[in-house]
Amino acid sequence: MTQTAEKTDLAQIGVVGLAVMGSNLARNFARNGNTVAVYNRSPEKTRALIAEHGEEGHFIPSETVEDFVASLERPRKAIIMVQAGKATDAVINQLADAMDEGDIIIDGGNALFTDTIRREKEVAAKGRHFVGAGISGGEEGALNGPSIMPGGPAESWETLGPILESIAANVDGTPCVTHIGPDGAGHFVKMVHNGIEYADMQVIGEAYQLLRYGAGLEPAEIAEIFREWNSGDLDSYLIEITAEVLAQKDPETGAPLVDVIVDAAGQKGTGRWTAINGLELGVPITGIAESVFARALSSSTAQRVAAQEGQLPSGTIKQLDVDKAEFIEDVRRGLYAAKLIAYSQGFDEIKAGSEEFGWDVDPRDLATIWRGGCIIRAKFLDRIREAYDNNADLPALILDPYFKGELEGLIDPWRRVVVAATQLGLPAPVFASSLAYYDSLRAERLPAALIQGQRDFFGAHTFKRVDREGTFHIEWSGDRSLTES
Ligand code: ATR
Repeated sequence: MTQTAEKTDLAQIGVVGLAVMGSNLARNFARNGNTVAVYNRSPEKTRALIAEHGEEGHFIPSETVEDFVASLERPRKAIIMVQAGKATDAVINQLADAMDEGDIIIDGGNALFTDTIRREKEVAAKGRHFVGAGISGGEEGALNGPSIMPGGPAESWETLGPILESIAANVDGTPCVTHIGPDGAGHFVKMVHNGIEYADMQVIGEAYQLLRYGAGLEPAEIAEIFREWNSGDLDSYLIEITAEVLAQKDPETGAPLVDVIVDAAGQKGTGRWTAINGLELGVPITGIAESVFARALSSSTAQRVAAQEGQLPSGTIKQLDVDKAEFIEDVRRGLYAAKLIAYSQGFDEIKAGSEEFGWDVDPRDLATIWRGGCIIRAKFLDRIREAYDNNADLPALILDPYFKGELEGLIDPWRRVVVAATQLGLPAPVFASSLAYYDSLRAERLPAALIQGQRDFFGAHTFKRVDREGTFHIEWSGDRSLTES
């Protein structure tokens, strides 16, 4: 007989939706001493979970929503791990109907934060609490310790905090979970986390491309380079798995695995949401947006085939004319710089979102809970936390004295890599656009002055002057005199 059958107590937490993420999360709760109620629309998944993993802890399986809700201790806490969209709405409604005043419904899926804001209002109107929680770390993280970003009412966090802390990843004794802010704050920061992840993956991809086709190195050699990089400033989960992927041989042909994988990147859409939201908030998240575009372009098969068939001139393509070891080090530094910009921009978006929606998100919390469990976990996040510890109102992450100091040593190699990529005819959209962003921020004068002139010319949109207050216009089609409005 399993412990499941012996245990008659009520469950501290419930999980609805037992596909891979939901089952792993339920197992994580159970392994950490919580009694876990489990329910899935099709009972086969519930039965399979209990048959395969029932001995890992205390589970209370149910085959109806009503039984599931009845098996939860009050205030009831149930995490929904079903398909995003309509399924989530359907399950929220079922739970809200079966639950009572003060019970807590948690959506652990990748919901769009505006849906979370709407859902919280709807659920609150029924007297239940709703918490949209971003959960990062993939299947492995769900099982062994994810990074969790819960939003929703602060009051729910009082009840939920300890139980989420019991399953989250842990770095230096600090659990990778904290209350992010009200309503959609948790899903918002999870969205930006994913956007940063897109940019981080893309800059790594660009570095690989430069080493492979610029320096002519083989995947196995590049794997070694990434392993080495992983012991320095770039120490991170993504660099670590990059080395693993590059070292992997195709079990069928023995060729490097990366060479047999179709080079069309997929996406589930969170990076795109981050880019769209950046556009809406007017925050230049160029690294994230370029990464989304790069994935889209990689999947534009018809256009790529046509272009490769010689329809587009390449111009003069140069060979790498510098020492390989120097180039490799330049690429490492360029990668570090471009990654720094992507994070700086991501934190800008979080700050802007927090202001727009009144969430009061503390960037230090994110730098803390992203150190473990999640896909962008990196040593580098300790530095980000220190930066915000030293100055909570940093105008931009890259203006922190530590990062500014790092950039001193990165800027020249970064410029050299962008020049080399251009001459080699190799695309490095995030390396290059991040440098353009960086130089734009530094520029004393931007061509925006000319744009204001153009706008005034064709649309009388007016302009400001550098030498005095006021709003001005030139009578372009008349005597070209200056008027003040
Ligand atoms: P994955 O991609 O890992 O399969 P997913 O598609 O995000 O996961 O979510 C699948 C889960 O959502 C399943 O638990 C599924 O239930 P079934 O096993 O019964 O299919 C659940 N799900 C999808 N639509 C649902 C709905 N309308 N009501 C309840 N659960 C639903």
